[in-house]
Amino acid sequence: MNPTATLLAPHLDQALTQIRANLDAFGDAFPDDCTVAGRYQLRPAGSGQPAGSNLGWTTGFRTGLLWLAHEHTGEAMFKAAAGRDVASFARRIAGAIDTETHDLGFLYVPSCVAAWRLTGDQRGRAAALAAAQALMGRIIEPAGIVQAWGDLDDPTQQGRTIIDSLMNMPLFYWAGRQTGDPTYVRAAVRHVTQLRDHIIRDDDSTFHTFWWDPVSGAPLRGSTQQGHSDSSCWARGQAWGIYGFALNYRLSGDPTFLAAAQRCARYYLDHLPVDLVPYWDMVFTDGSAEPRDSSAAAIAACGLIELASNLPPGPERERYQGWAVATVDSLALGYTPPPAGLASGLLAHGVYDMPKHVGVDEANLWGDYYYFEALTRLARPGWTPYWRQPVRSES
Ligand code: GLY
Repeated sequence: MNPTATLLAPHLDQALTQIRANLDAFGDAFPDDCTVAGRYQLRPAGSGQPAGSNLGWTTGFRTGLLWLAHEHTGEAMFKAAAGRDVASFARRIAGAIDTETHDLGFLYVPSCVAAWRLTGDQRGRAAALAAAQALMGRIIEPAGIVQAWGDLDDPTQQGRTIIDSLMNMPLFYWAGRQTGDPTYVRAAVRHVTQLRDHIIRDDDSTFHTFWWDPVSGAPLRGSTQQGHSDSSCWARGQAWGIYGFALNYRLSGDPTFLAAAQRCARYYLDHLPVDLVPYWDMVFTDGSAEPRDSSAAAIAACGLIELASNLPPGPERERYQGWAVATVDSLALGYTPPPAGLASGLLAHGVYDMPKHVGVDEANLWGDYYYFEALTRLARPGWTPYWRQPVRSES
């Protein structure tokens, strides 16, 4: 075992214990996006489906946690449970159940692409390809962006994309590799190029969302949905920017995406409080009474590791890797809940949506997932995250 893995072993064990307890608590049902008073609840009914159904944008993270747990332990129980989730994802895309969203990458990569990569699951592969095709259907011309939310004809959503969408692009690259169809990669590169040019401000902070004219394709304006104000920098958005641009560089080879990731990282690192876990919006600094968003720190840690791995050996690479290690240390030591039994999070003190007062100072599924991914990436330096190309034969 490498020395880092030895140091991280107790944190990995704690996370695995919680994943096991949560599987006991929920079985094949899906927990909700975030905890309430520290406990995950059953996902509410919706879209004509009963409570506990595969709905919303975060269910892929619960399946991704099961795949990670299987990779760490080799336990058949995790593999079987993840496989049952994959069947649910296949039914979801086949029935177009709550699929009018750009979040198909968040949903189908850590569940179905992971299943294909780890076990050769053909049903997972077919479901992920169907999801990629559905995502292609969300491209708005002539802007060439993937619309984030809602029906494409909905005037309240038309022409808007959000920084989070960068993380959905790996589904396109994967589908391109699987099918040999270059349209997928072209679509990803066009979308990411638009975000590179418009969603990053001159000071390297980012807008949460950006609007394009749906008729002319002209870039219009930035705005926020979950941040403090249109001109502030929503912490999780900045973290999505680091990881999202870095992954898009890795998958496309476009050096301007690497530069975009570096810009996002510079701003993020320059605006952190001393324990390296940002307030929910980066307008707040040390001394503020506002809540932190631990999930932003977990995403940023994965992004910094990815960014570092794309740079040649040298001070900049060391700096990003060093900040990632220190962030994960801070999360493991100060932001994990005490062992709490069934239905608790792996990572406490996240914020889902402050303006709507949802999931404030609670655990959430993506925080849990990226925290565990960050632990995995540090403990196993050769491990390839699910967002990157699969290593298995793709024939
Ligand atoms: N992708 C939605 C969020 O980060 O809250």
